[in-house]
Amino acid sequence: MQWGGRFAAGPSVVMQEINASIGFDRKMWRQDIRGSLAHAAMLAKLGIITAQDETGIRSGLEAIAAEIDAGRFPFEETLEDIHMNIEARLTERIGEAGKRLHTGRSRNDQVATDFRLWVRDAIDGLDAQIADVMRALADRAADHAADPMPGFTHLQTAQPVTFGHHLLAYVEMLARDRGRLADCRRRLNESPLGSAALAGTSFPLDRDMTARLMGFDRPTANSLDAVSDRDFALEFLAAAAISAMHLSRFAEEIVIWCSAPFRFIRLSDAFTTGSSIMPQKRNPDAAELVRAKTGRVNGALVALLTVMKGLPLAYAKDMQEDKEPVFDAADAWALSLAAIAGMVRDMTPDTARMREFAGSGFATATDLADWLVRVLRLPFRTAHHVTGRLVAKAEARGVDLAGLTLAEMQAEEPGITADIFGVLTVEASVASRTSYGGTAPANVAQQAARWQAALG
Ligand code: ARG
Repeated sequence: MQWGGRFAAGPSVVMQEINASIGFDRKMWRQDIRGSLAHAAMLAKLGIITAQDETGIRSGLEAIAAEIDAGRFPFEETLEDIHMNIEARLTERIGEAGKRLHTGRSRNDQVATDFRLWVRDAIDGLDAQIADVMRALADRAADHAADPMPGFTHLQTAQPVTFGHHLLAYVEMLARDRGRLADCRRRLNESPLGSAALAGTSFPLDRDMTARLMGFDRPTANSLDAVSDRDFALEFLAAAAISAMHLSRFAEEIVIWCSAPFRFIRLSDAFTTGSSIMPQKRNPDAAELVRAKTGRVNGALVALLTVMKGLPLAYAKDMQEDKEPVFDAADAWALSLAAIAGMVRDMTPDTARMREFAGSGFATATDLADWLVRVLRLPFRTAHHVTGRLVAKAEARGVDLAGLTLAEMQAEEPGITADIFGVLTVEASVASRTSYGGTAPANVAQQAARWQAALG
């Protein structure tokens, strides 16, 4: 062990097992090497180690990176974590110079640095993936800007919207998810390196230099805070939980749209599975799993909040439990985004069927009421009441609102003219929703084009 000086005996088996994080923190090997390269370059520049030592450290770390990349690195649980595994291997390869690398550094600032770098890399990858989903949605929205579908509230037919409008609703949500990631990235982008164990260090380190070399905006300003906070990881998980919730809602809609009674869309063999007993089945498993992955992501957020609450400053070993939830949530989020992007590009909407259902369920009742207000100047509440009676009448006769005769309508409200039939169609209904942000096809086409341009 690397801290062996004052220890006569090794740890018990269970001590070693509970203490080790190498099983999962090896995921941070690139970040650990990046941090060590920056640290060594800075130590050499300040004359704390020699240029020769730095060259040795650099080539040693590069060789280790190649070993890990090739799957040839001898990870040791006895060495606890990725930091000590790499450092021990470095010393094995280059001798004394390897032992100088840890000058002015503690694993506490090292792990905080590595983890920030890891989360930052994850943010960049996820941001690109979210943009890809948005692009896929905007492209399909542009194609279906004018195709009506039923809009729902309470999952009851409410008013017709266009399929493009519905898809663009998710583009807006995902844009905010990206905004949350960008906020998180901005706040996390400070370098803890040089905070050492908790108090800072007596070596005259150049923290600005290491921060710059690692792409951080600046060094952190308080060593206690730097080694012991994990709010950057919590913000990441909070952003993940919100985004996973969005993806889960969309996944649920895919499940509903694919169901036999709806049949609004069809997923190809590429995104469905069959049943081992029911030959007719085509199950939207990918959508169901996206819906379910949300549970892991929410769990990760609650797990880390619970680990951190009540921890006194500064570092405590509890904080080693920060990584697995973050790794797991990042994986689940990335996979969900890939699956959603795939399904958006894969799905075949049945626009005729959507159009048919857009007009059922008296979906244009609001249009009728609005006409009574606009043309006959009825107060809205009165118009609502008259329309309700007409709906009841149509329902009793088993027809749509447009299936009522003019005479039947006039029996409820004598002022009604044949013009009314012009607003009862689904097309007229969506075309009339021209308020900014509304579902009128011209609006939707414009919004889709705006997103397509913004996303490139
Ligand atoms: N494996 C540890 C972690 O992930 C590294 C930091 C250990 N620091 C310490 N003082 N024991 O948190």
